[in-house]
Amino acid sequence: MKTIPLIQFGLGGVGSAVAERVLAARDDFEWHYGLRLVYVALCDSRGAAINGDGFSHGALQRMLVAKAEGQSIVGLDSGYHHDGLRDIVDVAGTTDAIVIDVTASSNTTTALQLAIERGYAAVLANKKPLAESYEVFRNLVDSGRVRYESTVGAGVPVIASLSEALMAAHDPVRCIEGCFSSTLGYLTTGLQAEESFSELVRTAIALGYTEPDPREDLGGMDVARKALILARTMGWPLELEQVSVQPLYPAELGGGGVDDFLDAVHSLDDDYALRAAEAHIAGETLRYVALLQGGEARVGLQSLPLNSPLGQLQGTDNLIAFHSSIYDESPLVLQGRGAGVHGAAAGVLADIMALADHV
Ligand SMILES: NC(=O)c1ccc[n+]([C@@H]2O[C@H](COP(=O)([O-])OP(=O)(O)OC[C@H]3O[C@@H](n4cnc5c(N)ncnc54)[C@H](OP(=O)(O)O)[C@@H]3O)[C@@H](O)[C@H]2O)c1
Repeated sequence: MKTIPLIQFGLGGVGSAVAERVLAARDDFEWHYGLRLVYVALCDSRGAAINGDGFSHGALQRMLVAKAEGQSIVGLDSGYHHDGLRDIVDVAGTTDAIVIDVTASSNTTTALQLAIERGYAAVLANKKPLAESYEVFRNLVDSGRVRYESTVGAGVPVIASLSEALMAAHDPVRCIEGCFSSTLGYLTTGLQAEESFSELVRTAIALGYTEPDPREDLGGMDVARKALILARTMGWPLELEQVSVQPLYPAELGGGGVDDFLDAVHSLDDDYALRAAEAHIAGETLRYVALLQGGEARVGLQSLPLNSPLGQLQGTDNLIAFHSSIYDESPLVLQGRGAGVHGAAAGVLADIMALADHV
């Protein structure tokens, strides 16, 4: 039996779903693969719980209950002062460990780099470290011990298809197009159904589809980071500032608080209703699309034929189409659930298992 120590940064929606999945899969994985996954450290924004011998099933469940009730995990076991994630990287004491980054923070990059230096592997659902400089991306990914499936398309195997089915088969990718924001998918299919933009934004917030400040989604940066990760996976040396981003609101609505934004957002309703109607007359529909072609990446609103793969996409689903030498006239298309923490958690667990053989 091989034991894999797990160190997890973040125990929010995705992080809790990952821990639950690890607990549920543990016996099966021991039986089928001879692999034992053992948490030795977990942390949230306030601190960490550390146990070099591995947390029991019961201890992990207590942490999950505490998080569901809005508490921190600090104090449930041996805590540590939250000065840096670097400290807990050392807790595993073996190069077999896997660090899991399921925060939404840029502050994990140094700890991830340290983990890779120590010989550990790392799995990220967090896009931000991979959207820092191209050099940081290459240092992490070229180690061969970093996987990041859930950063794009949640659990839909976008990164594996690109790197393991296309690039590893020497099938050069000419173009990638896709919709990979469930929030913006929800908004654009709502526009297609003649709902008002401001009402759609308010409902998306109420349904928990957006970040607390919806401008983080509407500004397009989340999609831009995903496009950047795909571009870099293909070896395009792009920086985030080089991705052309078309936000869904004008610059003058960018300042002020969330309430100010929500008070003002109805001023965009007529324009979006007009654009949706024009698209409808042309047999098209609006979608927020990422396009990677010729070494460049751009994200923004496009009017697309209703019968195209992206035009047919509905609601929060994600879709990505790869155009390569082999998949030329008929692209390789992946489509599936883009919203919800369980798809992302499944992608993280699949990455853990893919790395477990190599650490
Ligand atoms: N939600 C989805 O469907 C989905 C899909 C694909 C990818 N993702 C990505 O997965 C990541 C997590 O998403 P989520 O929805 O789970 O977010 P979340 O619910 O906000 O959870 C984030 C977690 O990270 C912790 N955290 C924040 N800063 C930290 C720091 N500096 N050190 C240690 N822990 C820190 C938070 O601590 P507290 O608990 O103390 O606040 C929280 O536990 C994000 O990067 C997101 O983009 C999400």
